[in-house]
Amino acid sequence: MIKNIVILTGAGISAESGIPVFRSETGLWENHRIEDVCVPSALERDPATVENFYNTMRRNLHNVEPNPAHFAVARLQKEWKKGSVTLVTQNIDNLHERAGSENLYHMHGSLTEIYCPRCGTVFPCDRDVAPREDCPHCGAKGTVRPHIVFFEEIPYHMEEIEEALWSADLFLAVGTSGVVYPAAGFARIAASRGAVNVEFNLSASEQAGYFRKSVYGKAGTTLPKFVDSLLKDGDSFIESLPARS
Ligand code: APR
Repeated sequence: MIKNIVILTGAGISAESGIPVFRSETGLWENHRIEDVCVPSALERDPATVENFYNTMRRNLHNVEPNPAHFAVARLQKEWKKGSVTLVTQNIDNLHERAGSENLYHMHGSLTEIYCPRCGTVFPCDRDVAPREDCPHCGAKGTVRPHIVFFEEIPYHMEEIEEALWSADLFLAVGTSGVVYPAAGFARIAASRGAVNVEFNLSASEQAGYFRKSVYGKAGTTLPKFVDSLLKDGDSFIESLPARS
């Protein structure tokens, strides 16, 4: 019986809102080298470039809206009464919150927050951030940085996420290429605990072998349909999914 659901989302769920994915021909990393904007040493070496990169993305949040896939996730969270629906996103945009999602872990951080590593205080942020701002809480000089997990850093909320994965009966991965760990390993963990895994992508992800079913197409179209059927027919809908051959 399906009680607890974990949903992992990646850049693909926000693609139809107009936010470019990371790994595509027009993707974000094409114009910026990861080592210039998304590693701790870049922040030390050239904080202006790093802050500008995230300032631009933060400003762009005002130009984008959640799409039907974000709303489908929020609907499932509100209407599923048999257990929990935990949302884990690798995205740093705020489209899940704006679609009404709660019980949400931003494992790679959030554009709408900054923080001071010295005192650990996280501040909401909807403005451009200057390089090396002082912490308004503890007064430390120049410590404030994006609340974003850089390569080489440990993602946030891993304990809570692993706990949710251990008790998941259904694991959905939406719009993620399955190449960046630890998130890429979640399908294997959920499957090893007996969860039914379903992925939503344009084509098979790197982790496709761990999914009982892959639904190919744009998540804004496929996910709302899936959520409708899941809410309507519950276990019998999941049992009707063909086993991967
Ligand atoms: N519907 C469903 N899937 C889509 C759609 C769509 N409309 N558009 C694109 N996709 C799929 C692509 O096929 C691809 O598999 O979304 C996936 C996006 O993959 P990535 O760009 O690699 O994004 P993600 O998996 O979230 O990346 C993980 O890598 O660079 C880091 O920190 C960054 O959080 C990010 C992490």
